[in-house]
Amino acid sequence: MTARIIDGKEIARQIRTELAEEVQRLKTLGVVPGLGVILVGEDPASRSYVMAKEKACHEIGLYSDDNHLPATTSQEELLALVRRMNADPRINGILVQLPLPKGLDESKVLLAIDPDKDVDGFHPLNVGRMVLGEKAFMPCTPHGVVQMLCRSGVVIDGAHAVIVGRSNIVGKPLANMLMQKSPGGNATVTVCHTRTRDIGRYTREADIVIAAAGRPNTITADMIREGAVVIDVGVNRIEDASRKQGFRLVGDVDFEAVKEKAGMITPVPGGVGPMTITMLLHNTVESARRAHNL
Ligand code: GUN
Repeated sequence: MTARIIDGKEIARQIRTELAEEVQRLKTLGVVPGLGVILVGEDPASRSYVMAKEKACHEIGLYSDDNHLPATTSQEELLALVRRMNADPRINGILVQLPLPKGLDESKVLLAIDPDKDVDGFHPLNVGRMVLGEKAFMPCTPHGVVQMLCRSGVVIDGAHAVIVGRSNIVGKPLANMLMQKSPGGNATVTVCHTRTRDIGRYTREADIVIAAAGRPNTITADMIREGAVVIDVGVNRIEDASRKQGFRLVGDVDFEAVKEKAGMITPVPGGVGPMTITMLLHNTVESARRAHNL
């Protein structure tokens, strides 16, 4: 079997079109949703993610307050900027790009963000609400994965989903979202990680495999059941002298081999990546609606 490619760019485009219409409607009511963006330091991958987020904001008509700070920024300076954004009514969502440079305390910074503006869904209050199945901002990458599955017609209800990776940003929240007793949930979830003995033993049983390990070739064809759905969250830079930038992006899945066995698969790039940004826009628009009771 050759897998159907799940086109993240196309699904993201559809959702962004819906969001742009919603932004226009809000503007007619005098509301312009706004996102505050904070990038500290010069990490090239973080810079490119943040620039893509800022561009996406402008494309759908959001206000954005972009702050690129030097790696020497102190904890107090960073907290002061977060507090300023908490108090600014033009800003409905605050995004602090992670990881932060050494010396800055990530958990203290996340805790300082007003939970009602925490469009990344990283504040402990939102994490707790999500686990309890209450209304919360869903973290963008796992939310994007669920949207891709739903919009591609994948039946999650009753499926066995195996997640490879247990990060706070992807693996842990995604496991919670897929097991919720609600639409987009009701899966049986297994989480594998670096200490799992024989990951293939679990992935071969899976209807849906989600690779979020951060390492190329973590998922090979022998680890996939014929016809399974494979979602690749990995974004790994591989040196490649033939490319202008000197690298190319690959996921965690051996795409060429796995696509001959899977039923559906996401590519890298053009899979989960565009969905992450899209769900950030979604959460920002949602936050603006909530702030104005619309
Ligand atoms: N670093 C990697 N992914 C993310 C994300 O979704 N949000 C933020 N703020 N930082 C990240």
